[in-house]
Amino acid sequence: MAPYPTNPSLPSSYPPHHLIEVIVAVDDLLAFDPQSTYGAIALDYDYANTYCGGFVHQRALELACIAPGMSVLDAACGTGVATLAAAESVRPGGRVVAVDFAPEMLALASEKASRRALINIDWRLEDVTALDLPPDAFDVVFCLLALFSVADMPALTARLWGMVRPGGRLIVVTKGEPYLAPLYDPFYAAAQTAAPDLQLPQPWRRTQTPDRLRAVLDAAAVPAGISQATTTAPLSDPADWWRIVRGTGLSRTARLLGPEAAARVEAANLQTIADQNVTDLTSSFLYAVAHK
Ligand SMILES: C[S@@+](CC[C@H](N)C(=O)[O-])C[C@H]1O[C@@H](n2cnc3c(N)ncnc32)[C@H](O)[C@@H]1O
Repeated sequence: MAPYPTNPSLPSSYPPHHLIEVIVAVDDLLAFDPQSTYGAIALDYDYANTYCGGFVHQRALELACIAPGMSVLDAACGTGVATLAAAESVRPGGRVVAVDFAPEMLALASEKASRRALINIDWRLEDVTALDLPPDAFDVVFCLLALFSVADMPALTARLWGMVRPGGRLIVVTKGEPYLAPLYDPFYAAAQTAAPDLQLPQPWRRTQTPDRLRAVLDAAAVPAGISQATTTAPLSDPADWWRIVRGTGLSRTARLLGPEAAARVEAANLQTIADQNVTDLTSSFLYAVAHK
């Protein structure tokens, strides 16, 4: 018997079901284009982060139990929120290697570090999937809000796990559900109405449930525990919503729509905020912690 169900309407040379799922996910990723998306949102990232992920880094750092003298890898460090906090916690004697492939993100991160006189960070403008770092080199490896951005998630997870030294920890954080509720669904509904034929990329869905994240960790043979935490942040000014869109992965959809359609989506969302009296945003995140 074939290991995966096949669709008789497809030619026999067509890939089996599990490969079709992979192709759809990679297609979504190509439409998302993480490098250009995150490069474009760098200036709004920290602002948006206070609404939907500000507590993520604090929790990730607590789970990591970082101590002076440790070596830490922040894989896909973005604007360096966790990097900078880790660099402070490992002093004296410790170092952080921070890697990202979006120069705009890395520039902001390193500028913040110099303002804080943090000189124990090695900044690397590189693709995390091609990192050439020795095995067993780090006490803590972070991959925060970035795993969904790579095509082969188990391969990256296994590679990062290999860089954790015995006694160390790998911390992977992904978006959960709900995310930016109650405005996430109205945003995508309005976007689809504005551009019915457009594929609206939401690649974070690849790791958005505990089951999906577990499947990636299992495929990478990483023995991790997964927990989930949800937080609500006030949306004090309705105008803040669009700045949040501009500082998150939702911005890719706004860019693909183009200025006129994006303005229609923004107007529809402002109407939703008024009609439903939206005063806060609720987001959940998944935390995978593996001890070696
Ligand atoms: C949502 S941001 C998260 C940033 C940071 N880890 C945080 O928690 O704030 C995702 C980051 O991953 C980076 N990224 C995605 N794929 C990458 C890759 N293959 N190599 C290096 N960086 C990558 C992006 O450039 C972006 O800065």
